[in-house]
Amino acid sequence: MLARCASAALRGVEALPVTVEVDIGPGLPGLQMVGLGDAAVQESRERVRAALRNSGLRPPLTRVVVSLAPADLRKEGPAFDLPIALGLLMASGQLPPPRLEGIWSAAELGLDGRLRPVRGVLALASAARRHGARALIVARGNAAEAALVEGLKVWGAASLGEVLALLEDPASVIPPQTAAVADPPCRGPDLAEVRGQDHGRRALEIAAAGDHHLLLVGPPGSGKTMLAQRLPGLLPPLGRREALERTLLHSVAGLLPEGAGLLAGRPFRSPHHGCSAVALIGGGVLPRPGELSLAHHGVLFLDELTEFRREVLDQLRQPLEQGEVWICRARQRCRFPCRITLVAATNPCPCGWFGDPDHACLCGESARRRYWRRLSGPLLDRIDLQVVMRRPAPADLADGYRTARPQEGSAAVAERVRTARERMRRRNPDGLGNAQMAGLHLQETLRLESTALALWERALGVRRLSPRGGQRVLRVARTIADLAGREQVQTGDIAEALTYRSFDLLEAMAAGSQPAGVSAAAADGRGRAGSLPEEGGAELPRGDCRRHG
Ligand SMILES: Nc1ncnc2c1ncn2[C@@H]1O[C@H](COP(=O)(O)OP(=O)(O)O)[C@@H](O)[C@H]1O
Ligand SMILES: [Mg+2]
Repeated sequence: MLARCASAALRGVEALPVTVEVDIGPGLPGLQMVGLGDAAVQESRERVRAALRNSGLRPPLTRVVVSLAPADLRKEGPAFDLPIALGLLMASGQLPPPRLEGIWSAAELGLDGRLRPVRGVLALASAARRHGARALIVARGNAAEAALVEGLKVWGAASLGEVLALLEDPASVIPPQTAAVADPPCRGPDLAEVRGQDHGRRALEIAAAGDHHLLLVGPPGSGKTMLAQRLPGLLPPLGRREALERTLLHSVAGLLPEGAGLLAGRPFRSPHHGCSAVALIGGGVLPRPGELSLAHHGVLFLDELTEFRREVLDQLRQPLEQGEVWICRARQRCRFPCRITLVAATNPCPCGWFGDPDHACLCGESARRRYWRRLSGPLLDRIDLQVVMRRPAPADLADGYRTARPQEGSAAVAERVRTARERMRRRNPDGLGNAQMAGLHLQETLRLESTALALWERALGVRRLSPRGGQRVLRVARTIADLAGREQVQTGDIAEALTYRSFDLLEAMAAGSQPAGVSAAAADGRGRAGSLPEEGGAELPRGDCRRHG
């Protein structure tokens, strides 16, 4: 006898419908599985057989063929255990087929008949709702996740026996709790703990207000990691759609904790510099999201940037601009979103002490040049804000213990960021940040004062900014004006934006030439051998760069 059961297979962040067909016919006992299943799917037959036996049911004693259709779609993992078991029960006359009409199912079976959670259930539930399923049966640990999809009935069960009981008496189903939030939004560590570092703190605020990527260069202990960790706390809480997208990516990656519902907090991912391209970008035979997509709508922190392999970093370039990663395989092509703010941190030289007034740098000139060359290049060109940091002064650190001199905290900065982002959202279509503005839209929304334009034009020549680098200055200036509550971008905004291009100078130095900004800095004593150019070229007017906090 032939039976059919509905389920789904993951492809990227979507799930596609799969029909599990079970045929029991005459012949020697045995179960053959067809339809492009991986090893876990093939092993399903042993788990299903034992689960049926240990649940007091009868495994078929003749020849069984299980087909997962469509046959050209790759299937992975143990999620087909439950639909295969239900198909066997129908085909062997132990479960009346009308009971399962229009019901989808997905769960792994334990040998004792217990249901175990599987990855990607949120995607499965969306597909089930889209295709008009009457209900979706999942393991109890997946029920809160599946229930995030509105308009779909979810049946959570602990065992195969319980599934059969629910099918017999659907009125006994208890709807799962939908309100479970696995990861409530909270600010995390507070910006008030970071003493001094006005330039770095301001850059962090601008990054949060306009979705700009940020590079922090400074010796060990200057507070680079501290600053990066405080960026999620400056961003507004995730909206429901954003939180669902984040939850979906974690679910597909198999990283959603059992019983979890919505992941509502901003992600902060900090992969180790030894990680592979697949771990960072995503991929694999059956593609899964990488760190980049797990940081979707949040912060990806690459500490010790120069230690990452060049070919790994190179693969970041396109996703950073497009906000999505495409993984292409012979049989499939899938997309993982990755709208992130990148924060990269690195030491100024191999020993870490170049430019530090209290330590001698042990690296030679050529070692430093080689190091800077590793930092420079197309990835750097995509980072809007580049900040050179010093270790905090003893007085700044001591102020942390003087109650009379509190440092501005995350809540106050987040409030300014919220207002600036509202202004940005009203102006930019598709919810894009200032950092992604381009072409005519950038020209129209910039509202540049004529003196500001003249300063920018001059800076392009003096600082030898690439066209992309020049455009980044404009976008940052737009965000600075937004933070000040102005529609017009003024000279001071351009001047401040230029102070976040420190690395353009280093890049020129790495290439062996000295742009005008460096010699001018040398003339005023800031560019002596052993120091890093800070806050841009000295001969450019600084404008009225306000410092908050
Ligand atoms: N600006 C600062 N204000 C207060 N504490 C700081 C500051 N910078 C560094 N510290 C202290 O030094 C420690 C190391 O800072 P960290 O952010 O890890 O430095 P980095 O990443 O630059 O090496 C911090 O845990 C903190 O205790
Ligand atoms: Mg650090």
